[in-house]
Amino acid sequence: MILNQGYLVKRRTSTRQVEPYTMRLVEAKEIDRVMQLQHQVYEGLPNKQVLYKDTKIEMLDDLYNGALIIGVFNSEDRLISYRYISFPGKSNKNLGNDIQLLESELDRVVHLETTLVDPQYRGNRLQSLTLSKAIELIEPMEMKHLLCTVSPYNLFSLYNIMSAGLNIKALKRKYGDEAQNGMWRFILHKDISDDIAWNDLNAKSLKMDSLLEQKFLIEKGYVGYKLNKDTQMIQYSLAN
Ligand SMILES: CC(C)(COP(=O)(O)OP(=O)(O)OC[C@H]1O[C@@H](n2cnc3c(N)ncnc32)[C@H](O)[C@@H]1OP(=O)(O)O)[C@@H](O)C(=O)NCCC(=O)NCCS
Repeated sequence: MILNQGYLVKRRTSTRQVEPYTMRLVEAKEIDRVMQLQHQVYEGLPNKQVLYKDTKIEMLDDLYNGALIIGVFNSEDRLISYRYISFPGKSNKNLGNDIQLLESELDRVVHLETTLVDPQYRGNRLQSLTLSKAIELIEPMEMKHLLCTVSPYNLFSLYNIMSAGLNIKALKRKYGDEAQNGMWRFILHKDISDDIAWNDLNAKSLKMDSLLEQKFLIEKGYVGYKLNKDTQMIQYSLAN
């Protein structure tokens, strides 16, 4: 089923080329295409800490349990971007546990897992476009909580996800082998049914990579609700 079609700009070294795209769900039998794009994007990252790679087994397991992968394909039917969403239910990996959601709410959690865009196609707002599509797809499922993790060193992803209304509710190490205690991640949350209006008046601003100061504020009940892309400062305010 086609979810969306349109045009995007492909960047080459000195030229830009407009090209049609198609958005559709990726099937389990196409998982190797997903792995290939993940590998390519990961290898190109200057800071590998920003992306925790999913394994093929994990993704397939999730797909058989209802997870969805929204794929974007270029004019040659090559996968150039995807967004992976999953429904963790009562499993340990439910990020609701990291922000003290009530147990009765855990079944209504959707995880925004990995999102990637091929570097040649960045700047087309595909991360935001696939997020809007994901929210549309889950609408009939009566889900309530969107949750995801983002690295404090991932400016572009953090900006896009906070602009979509997800707020920082925790900062901790995740996904680690125990020896290294994991990688630093913000845990972001949005109640789908609730659009909160934040008041800048008493807000405190902290640099996105100043970890201990942010952790301290969050532990005092502050929530991060806005990121300034130019200054890389995050605004925090007390939750009502
Ligand atoms: C995060 C990511 C998905 C965003 O891609 P996107 O949707 O194409 O980003 P946007 O369209 O919002 O880009 C806005 C601007 O930032 C730039 N930009 C986006 N990602 C960038 C990156 N990783 N490095 C440098 N510039 C980047 C774009 O070129 C664009 O610039 P412009 O306004 O001058 O055209 C993409 O950077 C990516 O795949 N990163 C690596 C994987 C990752 O970190 N995923 C998120 C964690 S799972």
